[in-house]
Amino acid sequence: MPTIIEPFRIKSVEPIRMTTPEQREGILREAGFNLFLIHADDVVIDLLTDSGTGAMSSEQWAGVMRADESYAGAKSFYRFEERLIGITGFEHILPTHQGRASERILFELIGGAGKVVPNNAHFDTTRANIEHSGAEAVNLPIAEAAHPADRHPFKGNMDIAALERLLADLGPDRVPCVMLTITNNSGGGQPVSLANIRDARAVCDRFGVPLFLDACRFAENAWFIKQREEGQGSRPVSEIAREMFDLADGATISAKKDGLVNIGGVLLLRDPELLRRASELLILTEGYTTYGGLSGRDLEAMAQGFEEVLHEDYLRYRIRSTAYLGERLLEAGIQIVEPPGGHAVYVDAKAFCPHIPPDRFPGQAVVAGLYREGGIRSCEIGSVMFGGEGHEPPAMELVRLAIPRRVYTQSHIDYVAEVFIALKAKADTLRGMRIVEQPPALRHFTARFEEL
Ligand code: F0G
Repeated sequence: MPTIIEPFRIKSVEPIRMTTPEQREGILREAGFNLFLIHADDVVIDLLTDSGTGAMSSEQWAGVMRADESYAGAKSFYRFEERLIGITGFEHILPTHQGRASERILFELIGGAGKVVPNNAHFDTTRANIEHSGAEAVNLPIAEAAHPADRHPFKGNMDIAALERLLADLGPDRVPCVMLTITNNSGGGQPVSLANIRDARAVCDRFGVPLFLDACRFAENAWFIKQREEGQGSRPVSEIAREMFDLADGATISAKKDGLVNIGGVLLLRDPELLRRASELLILTEGYTTYGGLSGRDLEAMAQGFEEVLHEDYLRYRIRSTAYLGERLLEAGIQIVEPPGGHAVYVDAKAFCPHIPPDRFPGQAVVAGLYREGGIRSCEIGSVMFGGEGHEPPAMELVRLAIPRRVYTQSHIDYVAEVFIALKAKADTLRGMRIVEQPPALRHFTARFEEL
């Protein structure tokens, strides 16, 4: 098969500032070994996140110019609404400034003390918003998800038997909704199968509990279903995406991922009463219902982005380019979460530096090592992000290399693999870390570390 190429040409470029290892050593120390605290200008290849970091298309930029900035009822809103209705089948579309704003509104309305919200795996802002409301967030991944080398094709699936047990134990009154995160970001960017969404739906129906999707990466998830699930190979990916949404009573979306924009979010609801209350909260804290804290140009960019993300040439290239990085690391003997995820490759930091125990943050040691070695910014998804007082230690210590959409070329990715391979040769010199300063919640953003 010929090489799967980037299905776009580059019209505008942004220079990368090169740094020396000596400069990076100083920058790292000044930032307390937390890469959220360094200037982006000091990064050579930025794989911190795939969120809001993508490149917009010429059609999206054209939309930015065309946008209607009217306060209420702007043309741009109606274009955005029509596009989202077309893709999801939901009749009422609320724009928000990003995913967590949708989560905050939803859980302020349905969360609260005594409530429990199960998910295949909550993303950190989802968990934080649920806990902020006083409710409890529970992860119910399938057992395979905890084993990096297990190549289950739908490792993002929820453990349906565990969901049934939880609902039978607690009763429907304590569970305001069941959530499925597609793809499962915290568990390795792994997809959820259509069969699993249908099974979760059936259990929710039996107990009379609504099913919500955290659908940030719905197009990538739909592409995996098309590639991997029996009987799905010949369906258009847009049809698969539509079926996923049809199975849900609501969804929170950060458009910064598969919306292909730099800012924006969506809240989808079917229940008219919940919609009314959400609209009131939206007006109170985000903005009027036809802009939700965004400008008209953001709505235009989203309308176009949600359309482009379902192009199958784009998805083929997107998922292949992530897999390419994963395969190069595996060939070099670096254990990743297999198979490679959709938006990111997750490296098993426990396997990379077995001499560093989880309470000394092996993931953070690898993150610091990659920056020192080649100016690569990555993100720890392990005991720093999910640990701390009152939290169970996470099953895996991972380092995420998240790939921004349409931003880096194959030679950038080759460079990343080369830096990682060079770091592997000296992995035994990586040192554990100690937290010297941390906030009470979402500590990974601002904590400071010291090398041991
Ligand atoms: N849900 C999932 C699965 C996410 O990955 C994110 C964001 C959110 C919700 C929140 O959306 O950032 O627009 O408020 N994930 C980014 C990441 C930050 O790096 O994975 P947001």
